[in-house]
Parts: sequence; structure tokens; C-alpha cells
Amino acid sequence: MFQNPWICFLLFLAWASTTAFAARLVDFQVEQPPPVPKDAKQCTIQVLQRDFAFSFGMAEVVQFTPPSDCGPVGSWAAITLNFTVTSNGTQFDRLGIFTFQNVEIWRTSTPEPSRGDGIIWTYIKDVTRYTPLFAKPGTFILQLDNLIQQGLDGVYSTVLHATFYASSADHPAAKQADAIFPLSTFAPDTGNDASVPPGFSINVTLPQNAVGIYAEIYASGNGNEEFWYSNAPNQFLGDLPDGVTFGQGPFREVRLLIDGRVAGVAFPYPVLFTGAISPAAWRPITSYGAVDLPTYFLDLTPFVPVLTDGQPHVFTIDVASAEADHTILQNWFVSGALQVFVDVSSQRTIGNITTYSADPFAESSATASRQGNNVIITVSAQREIHVEADILSGSGVATHVVWSQNLQYQNIQSYLNRASTQNIFQTASGSVSSIHSGKQVVKDIFSYPLTINLTNTTFLLDHSYDRDLLPTPFIPGSTIHSHQLAGTTSAGSSNNNTFSYLDTDGNSFERRVNASRNVITLDQQSGTLAPASFGPTDGVGVPFNGESTFAQARLPGGRRIQT
Ligand SMILES: *[C@@H]1O[C@H](CO)[C@@H](O)[C@H](O)[C@H]1NC(C)=O
Ligand SMILES: *[C@@H]1O[C@H](CO)[C@@H](O)[C@H](O)[C@H]1NC(C)=O
Ligand SMILES: *[C@@H]1O[C@H](CO)[C@@H](O)[C@H](O)[C@H]1NC(C)=O
Ligand SMILES: *[C@@H]1O[C@H](CO)[C@@H](O)[C@H](O)[C@H]1NC(C)=O
Ligand SMILES: *[C@@H]1O[C@H](CO)[C@@H](O)[C@H](O)[C@H]1NC(C)=O
Ligand SMILES: *[C@@H]1O[C@H](CO)[C@@H](O)[C@H](O)[C@H]1NC(C)=O
Ligand SMILES: *[C@@H]1O[C@H](CO)[C@@H](O)[C@H](O)[C@H]1NC(C)=O
Ligand SMILES: *[C@@H]1O[C@H](CO)[C@@H](O)[C@H](O)[C@H]1NC(C)=O
Repeated sequence: MFQNPWICFLLFLAWASTTAFAARLVDFQVEQPPPVPKDAKQCTIQVLQRDFAFSFGMAEVVQFTPPSDCGPVGSWAAITLNFTVTSNGTQFDRLGIFTFQNVEIWRTSTPEPSRGDGIIWTYIKDVTRYTPLFAKPGTFILQLDNLIQQGLDGVYSTVLHATFYASSADHPAAKQADAIFPLSTFAPDTGNDASVPPGFSINVTLPQNAVGIYAEIYASGNGNEEFWYSNAPNQFLGDLPDGVTFGQGPFREVRLLIDGRVAGVAFPYPVLFTGAISPAAWRPITSYGAVDLPTYFLDLTPFVPVLTDGQPHVFTIDVASAEADHTILQNWFVSGALQVFVDVSSQRTIGNITTYSADPFAESSATASRQGNNVIITVSAQREIHVEADILSGSGVATHVVWSQNLQYQNIQSYLNRASTQNIFQTASGSVSSIHSGKQVVKDIFSYPLTINLTNTTFLLDHSYDRDLLPTPFIPGSTIHSHQLAGTTSAGSSNNNTFSYLDTDGNSFERRVNASRNVITLDQQSGTLAPASFGPTDGVGVPFNGESTFAQARLPGGRRIQT
């Protein structure tokens, strides 16, 4: 019976992580501290405080009013959120959706707690790019659907503060868009993301004098799409033992369509949540992206000639596979927003899309080779989008826009020895660019390699997030190299990271941090954003007082421990 070895694997994980320690465990995602002016006047306001016990369908909904004592409202140099959470018990990781003024501003997920002294984590999130939203009072929603039931008693006790940094001669006000338009459900009482499939569509009417339109997309695979990169093409499912993986193939592209026509796409970064495969491997260091899920940026300015007619246009966000019908399983959660710049003149922006080259779907191929008890499946995909436009603002400024995306994808899955060993290698990489009259305004050069090796006794993961990103012309560009080796073997669980951050304002941060069996064994931090005088032994060896029980681990293909 195929499933038996996997049960042993999970029991093994439970054994590997039951050791006694001596304090509350501090969980974290390796990330740069936000580049904020520390010497600026700061105004900190509590946004909400909530214990998420049984909270399914019961989001926290509060009214938020910006501070008026940190300079003129909307003139801040930066805005950050501080989300601090404690939990003591057993609980699954849960998705958290922060929505303000009907715009998703942060997608997070929770580290799984432990029993005894429990866990704590703090994440400081830079939300400066949403300044136009924070410049007026509005509804703030945190959706964190938690369940309390037999075997799951972990409550997430949360507090959220927002800090506003006053601008000054030394610290100018952050550049901001003139308006932000949500691509969201507009729900009044829950997170404003939509579940796809089917695609999510919304009519948006944009200002007739718009001269720049930049989209940001949130998208994550959940439910039977959590391990989307481990799914097998339907045509090869019959070659594999039953129940080892889901179908619909491993390729996913998130598409943004305007009036049914592809405007841009993202090859998403694979986020592993802390309940994924071996929860012990994600404690106390989560997988990169689990606490702050990456988002994707597209320049829609070439579509200005179409979008400035004063009429509603249908924006659609969907997720497509490389299957013949491009369908996926349930479910991806998606949302987005348009950051819009308008001309000083109120007259309509006019122009022409002079080149439009974008296929509805990526080009792809899938092959399988079988040798004895081994099956190796390879799926490849690629995508080229090229759109050019000439636009002329009401005040007479002519701009030539060149928007292009050149994306590659490969996924190799080896199911060895009747699938008792499952190795996944995936890489998505690409080059995204938008040039306005010779000036680079959007850039995304990325590479997301992922290797997962899984047997009944070992889990090894090697993944990177390498991204040189200029999200829009008004958000500083940054280059991030994150490399994480994590896993669980007979030697226990470990999680080793090297991380570097450099931005176009000259801020930098580097960190090397390793954890083994819940204890930090190495922590080196440097760069302009590092905590002052961070010593080589700071944070190392802090003991942990807890029983490392976990909620049931989730495995690719929906496999579960049978109790
Ligand atoms: C793991 O699988 C191998 C064969 O693939 C088997 O010999 C071994 O007994 C299994 N171990 C456990 C703990 O199930
Ligand atoms: C974040 O909030 C927590 C809880 O209020 C607080 O203890 C901590 O000092 C804050 N961290 C920062 C960097 O502001
Ligand atoms: C965690 O919860 C247990 C009961 O489930 C309790 O005995 C323990 O004191 C709690 N720990 C903390 C730090 O509150
Ligand atoms: C968009 O508006 C048109 C015209 O009012 C309507 O027919 C269509 O159903 C709307 N689409 C969506 C997704 O709301
Ligand atoms: C758009 O195309 C028309 C017809 O070729 C041309 O007359 C007009 O100048 C173009 N507009 C811009 C902004 O290039
Ligand atoms: C992981 O899988 C890859 C691809 O099959 C293989 O080349 C590599 O040797 C495996 N690594 C380990 C540690 O098993
Ligand atoms: C992390 O580093 C330690 C110490 O070098 C090593 O024993 C462990 O195997 C590493 N973990 C992974 C997943 O590579
Ligand atoms: C940290 O992890 C790296 C990468 O696995 C490893 O080479 C190094 O030996 C580890 N150092 C410590 C002190 O664990």
C-alpha cells in the first residue's frame, strides 16, 4: 500500500521535534527591515487588536482614521504596519488578508504555534505605496479564518499598529499615485480577495486624463492548489500510483485581462506555508514569502488609449494551467489594484496602441518517460508579451510606451521507485520591462528555482527568490537574493538562509541565519538597515520552552497522515 510509508514519515517528524527547551519561541521570515527614516517624527496608532479563536467567516472590521499630528495628512515619508501575534496551542497555519479601502495591502500566513510557552512573531510591513489610501479614513479589514475544533486549540492573538513617519527637508514625502482603484470584491465584512476559478472580473471606469496606470496583483494557491508545482498533467496521471498527486499539471500563470485581452501575466513564486510537508522545518524560520507573500507588478499604461474613454472596462484576474483547457483546481485567492497617475490638464489622454502581441495562453509542452518503477515528467512553458503605444496627454506631453514580458518555466518531477521518492525541480524566470520614452519605469528580472526531495523519511528543500524589481516609477527599486535550504532528516529539522537586499536609495541588508531543531545556530546581520551593533552571537542559541506538536502536516497531492 503506497500510503503506509508516508504515515511513518509523519510519525518520524513528530518524534524529531519533541524536545524540551526553555522560553517562548520567536518565529520569523528572513526579510529586510523596511527602509524608513528612523530619526523622523513618528505617529503610531493601534489599528486593531483581536484574538482569532473560532473566526471562520468573522473577519475583524474596524474604522481607521489617519493621524493628523505627523505633518499634513498624506504627506508622510513612509508608513509601516507592525503585526505582532502570539499563539499557544496546536493550530494550522492560516491565511491572513489585510484590506484597507477595499484594496488588499498585505497577504500573510501564520506560523504554526507550539504548546507550552507558545510562539510570538512580529512583522514590520512597508505599506508606503498605499499612501493615497491611508490619507483618508476608511474601513480596515483583517480576515484570518481560524478554526477551533478537536485537536486544534491554537488561538492567534493579534495586535496591529500603523506607524506614520513625518516628512521633512531631510526626508521628503513619499511619491504617490493620484488614485488607487481596487480590483477586488468590495466585500464590506471580509478580505477583498476573490477565489478563482472561474476568473474574477470587475468593471472599472478610469479618469479620462490618466497618463500612467500600474497594476499590482496578489495571488496564492490554496486548498488543492497549495502544492500546484507538484501537480501532474492529466495525461500522465495514469502512469502514477493512485493518490500520489493531483492533476491539472504544475504550470500556473496569473493573467490580467482588459476587456478579455491579455494585458500582462505573472509566473508566480511558489510559497510554502508553515504546515507544508514538514512543519518542523519551518520553525522558527518560515519559508521565504510565507509571512509576506510576493506580489506582481504590470504596466498598463500602453492601454491608456483604450481606458481613458470614460467608459467602464472589464478587468479580469484568472489563473491558467498548461492543460489543453487551461483549467485549474480550487482554489487561488486573487486581488489587485491600479495605481493611477493623471495629467495636470483635465482633458482626455489620447493615443494609439501601435503594437499588440500577446497570446491568450503561454506556449507549453509536457513529456513523460517511464523506466521500470520510475516516472519522470517534464513540463515547459514560455511566454512573450510585447505592447507598444503612443499617448498624448491633455497638456501636450507625448510618451512612447514599450511594455514587454519574456518569461520561461520548467518543471521536472521524478516519481522514483513507485513514487516512494518524489523529487520536484521547478524554475520560473523572466524579464519584465516597461520603458516610457526611453526611461525604464517598471522592471522585474526574476528567478524562482525550487527543488523538493521527498521520501518517507526525508524532506529537503532548496529554493531561491532572486528578484531585481522596479515595481512602478514611484516605488524604489530593489534587488533581493534569498536562498533557503530547509528540511527534515534523521538529523532533525534545519533551515539555513542567506539573504541580501539592496535598493535604489542605497539601503542595504544582509543576513545569514541558520536554525537547527528550533534553535538559532547562526545569525549574522549587516548593512544600513541592520539593527545597530548586531553581534555575531545575538539571537543565537535562545532556548525554547515548548512541546513541538503540530497540526497534521499537509503533503502534495492531498496526502494525509491516517490516525
Ligand atoms: C521507507 O521506504 C523504504 C523503501 O522505499 C522502506 O524500505 C522503508 O522501510 C520505509 N521506511 C519507513 C519508515 O516507512
Ligand atoms: C511591534 O508591536 C509590538 C506589540 O505592540 C511591540 O512590542 C514591538 O516593540 C513593536 N515593534 C516595533 C519595531 O515597533
Ligand atoms: C499555554 O496554554 C497552556 C494550556 O493549554 C497553559 O498551561 C500555559 O500556561 C500557556 N502558556 C502561556 C505562556 O500562556
Ligand atoms: C460590466 O458592465 C457591463 C455593462 O454595464 C455589464 O454588461 C457587465 O456584466 C459588467 N461586468 C462585470 C464583470 O461586472
Ligand atoms: C493615432 O493614430 C492616428 C491615425 O494614424 C494619428 O492621426 C494620431 O496622431 C495618433 N495619435 C498619437 C498620440 O500618436
Ligand atoms: C534531489 O532530487 C534531484 C532531482 O531528482 C537529484 O538530482 C538530487 O540528487 C536529489 N537530492 C537528494 C539530496 O536526494
Ligand atoms: C543546515 O546547516 C547545517 C550545519 O551546516 C547542516 O547540518 C544542515 O544539513 C543544513 N540543512 C540543510 C537543509 O541543508
Ligand atoms: C549555515 O548553513 C550553511 C548552508 O547550509 C552551512 O554551510 C553552514 O555550515 C551553516 N552554519 C552553521 C553555523 O550552522
